[in-house]
This record gives sequence, structure tokens and C-alpha cells, in this order.
Amino acid sequence: METTLIILKPDAVQRGLMGRIISRFEDKGLQIVGAKLIRISPDLAQRLYEPHQGKPFYEGLVRFMTCSPVLVMAVRGLGAIEIGRSLLGATFGSKAQPGTIRGDFGVSNSFNLVHGSDGPGTAKRELDLFFEPSELLDYPRSIEGWVYDLSSGGPE
Ligand code: RTP
Ligand code: MG
Repeated sequence: METTLIILKPDAVQRGLMGRIISRFEDKGLQIVGAKLIRISPDLAQRLYEPHQGKPFYEGLVRFMTCSPVLVMAVRGLGAIEIGRSLLGATFGSKAQPGTIRGDFGVSNSFNLVHGSDGPGTAKRELDLFFEPSELLDYPRSIEGWVYDLSSGGPE
């Protein structure tokens, strides 16, 4: 099982889209193992988007991510990182396909509603920035055997 960091950005929270966006992950069968509403500090935003430091959109991105609360979530499942990215859609709302979160809910390129980790190394680094180990909850889901085929011993 993989865990990925998903952030509902300030525009998602302000526009009252939290419930509908969370439902996309729940509907898919992914499990939410951590969640909190926080105001990101400039320092934390800089560390999250450190790989983009120096790019023309970096300063604006840090300002946007710190301007209003965000909902950070740890989302778990088989292949959760790649599945999470596919649920988000292409980076720019104007280009994202209908059926994806960015494609369905936004038109802006910089106000693109959600963040998702883009690989296993990134997911670990980003989860460590936002969650203490004790804040990631290992709990069995009663629906697990209907979300996955568990007949061979592991989830398929
Ligand atoms: P994210 O990290 O937020 O999940 O987004 P992403 O992987 O799809 O895109 P990324 O390349 O990592 O860019 C991070 C965020 O920076 C803003 N951006 N603006 N104006 C631009 O050219 C531009 N490029 C990127 C977006 O808010 C993007 O989500
Ligand atoms: Mg990214």
C-alpha cells in the first residue's frame, strides 16, 4: 500500500469544494488515513515547493498556498500516488480533462484546487513535512474486501 499527500488548496476551501473533492478519493476506493485543516506558513510552503525554487511562478505559488487555510490529507491505497495524480488531472485547469478534479472544477492555471505527490520519494518527503507518524492512522475498513479482491491473501 502506498500513501500520498493530497492538499486541497486555498481556492478549494474558499469555494466550498472540500466535500466534493474528498468524495473523489473516497469514491475511487482510496482510504483517508490523515487529515487536517491548517494555514501553511511561508517556510512550509517554500519547503513543499522547494523543487520549483527559482521558477517564475514560485513566489506567486508560495503566496497563494499561504493566503488562506488548506486541507492536507494522507491518502492510501494500492498505487495511490499515480491514481491520485490521475484524479487531479493536468496541472492547468484550462487543459485538464473533464472527469478530473481540475478539469471539472476549475479554469485557472495557477488556482488549480489540489496538490498531489508525484512519486514515491516525493510522497515520503511531503508527508513528513505535514504529518507526525502518530497522525497517520492505520485502521481497518469494513469495506476493504469489496474495494479489493483479497482472496489471494493480499489486495488485488
Ligand atoms: P502540484 O505540485 O501542486 O500538485 O501541481 P503539479 O505537480 O501538477 O504541477 P507542478 O509542475 O508541480 O507545479 C506546481 C504548482 O505551481 C503552479 N504552476 N504555475 N504559471 C505556471 O507556469 C505554473 N506552473 C506551475 C501550479 O499551481 C502548480 O500546481
Ligand atoms: Mg507538483
